[in-house]
Amino acid sequence: MKPAFYVTTPIYYVNDVPHIGHAYTTLAADVLARYKRLKGFDVFFLTGTDEHGQKVEKAATAAGETPLELADRVMKRFQSLWEKLEISNTDFIRTTQERHKKGVSVLFERVMEKGDIYLGEYEDWYCTPCETFWTETQLIDYKCPDCNRPTEKLKEESYFFRMSKYQDQLLAHIEANPDFIQPKSRRNEIISFVKEGLRDLSVSRTTFQWGIPVPGNDKHVVYVWFDALTNYITALGYPEEGGDYGKYWPCDVHLIGKDILRFHTVYWPTFLMAAGLPIPKKVFAHGWWTVEGQKMSKSLQNVVEPNMLVDKYGVDAVRYFLLREVPFGLDGDFSHQALIHRINSDLANDLGNLLNRSTAMLGKYFGGVLQAPGEETELDKAYREKTVAMIDQVDGFIEELAFSRALQAIWEVISAGNKYIDETAPWTLAKDPEQRERLSTVMYYMLESQRVVYTLLSAFMPKTAQKGLCCLGWPEEASAEGLAWGGLKPGTTIAKAEALFPRIEEKAE
Ligand code: MSP
Repeated sequence: MKPAFYVTTPIYYVNDVPHIGHAYTTLAADVLARYKRLKGFDVFFLTGTDEHGQKVEKAATAAGETPLELADRVMKRFQSLWEKLEISNTDFIRTTQERHKKGVSVLFERVMEKGDIYLGEYEDWYCTPCETFWTETQLIDYKCPDCNRPTEKLKEESYFFRMSKYQDQLLAHIEANPDFIQPKSRRNEIISFVKEGLRDLSVSRTTFQWGIPVPGNDKHVVYVWFDALTNYITALGYPEEGGDYGKYWPCDVHLIGKDILRFHTVYWPTFLMAAGLPIPKKVFAHGWWTVEGQKMSKSLQNVVEPNMLVDKYGVDAVRYFLLREVPFGLDGDFSHQALIHRINSDLANDLGNLLNRSTAMLGKYFGGVLQAPGEETELDKAYREKTVAMIDQVDGFIEELAFSRALQAIWEVISAGNKYIDETAPWTLAKDPEQRERLSTVMYYMLESQRVVYTLLSAFMPKTAQKGLCCLGWPEEASAEGLAWGGLKPGTTIAKAEALFPRIEEKAE
């Protein structure tokens, strides 16, 4: 039986349309899912939309729609973007689906039955125009930090989750599992936060309607984060504990942005502890993208729309750029110039050119028919060993979710390929009839190394990898078996490759 692997993205709010920040988390999850499938895992890859809560209710009112109409419309934008970006998710959960609502009610009830959810009063500063509660420290001169209008102290009946009770258990868990929260800097942040003391958490609201009713008291709706986080198990069929839930839970990794780390590493695990359910194995928080040096925002009108990027540069260039440009976990900056630069240098020059040059040479010297390799020289051995070593390096980097380092390791082999051609100078060998066997070996090594490269690239750039492999006379889908050296069979016909990535005029932007 294949080992199971479960990866998730956050579920996206439907009050906003997708931008590169959303695309980034989903792409990273997709690369991981594809890579694990390549390695023989049975992968469940979940994404979806977060459709309840006040923000969505307000956005719907502003758009003159019901919240569900808004959600129906916006969730299609997410789904069509994921198709366009070649996202291979197993399931797409919407928090308005019955399967989800049922699971949330059951989880809430179980925690309540245990005595860890109780009815109390919530007292804080309320901004009526914004319909938002603020804590005293969030206020600016006792005014609303959003609209600068006066706030008043208000009491609201609320259900509370006894989060304080789980403080020590959570801390012990984080300390005993150094890999639970990553990267490390984020882990330290959470440890200090928990050590400062956990307060009980308000887990219901009465000031708006758009949510899942609290079981037994429909004056209240379930707090949107209690609702949203539960998607990770309702999509697996919870409260049914067999089936997918039994197979995939606890999750191998929740991929999220750094802004929602506390929800995933403090709230979520304590909810699960209270319900007696296992905790996710890992939560990894990536950094944020700015655009040409500035925060991305509607008011600055600098939101980068992923559909437009794909139309302009192609899906694999966008996939490559986002994962290569910035080490996963750090903040990064998007610019068209940087993207164009990566396309021209890494994709057109290094990757595309190698395939182009090598297949053209095989055509010219052997009529496009791959010959059996002869004796291996030191140079060939070094190139082969470098190619084979890349497989484990990439595996290690992906395990750490160091996507850009995995790509760097692949690109070192691509550069080694271009260098190998320069050093072996096939054009000189071709002039000497006595060097036919040597020339055959060089051709074989050059093309076989690329076959391994494209097999690994299938996780990052599925279309390009498929084109590359097909061109190399390897029509099968990329697979773990394909990672063994020596896969290409002598006698295979290999046609000259078209340019995979045409260069882009740098001054275009
Ligand atoms: N609905 C919640 C998540 C619930 S998960 C149980 C939510 N949604 S969101 O749509 O606002 O954000 C989803 C993800 O997009 C977050 O991981 C967030 O970090 C990410 N990003 C939003 N803007 C971003 C950038 N500018 N850069 C990188 N990622 C960013 O939060």
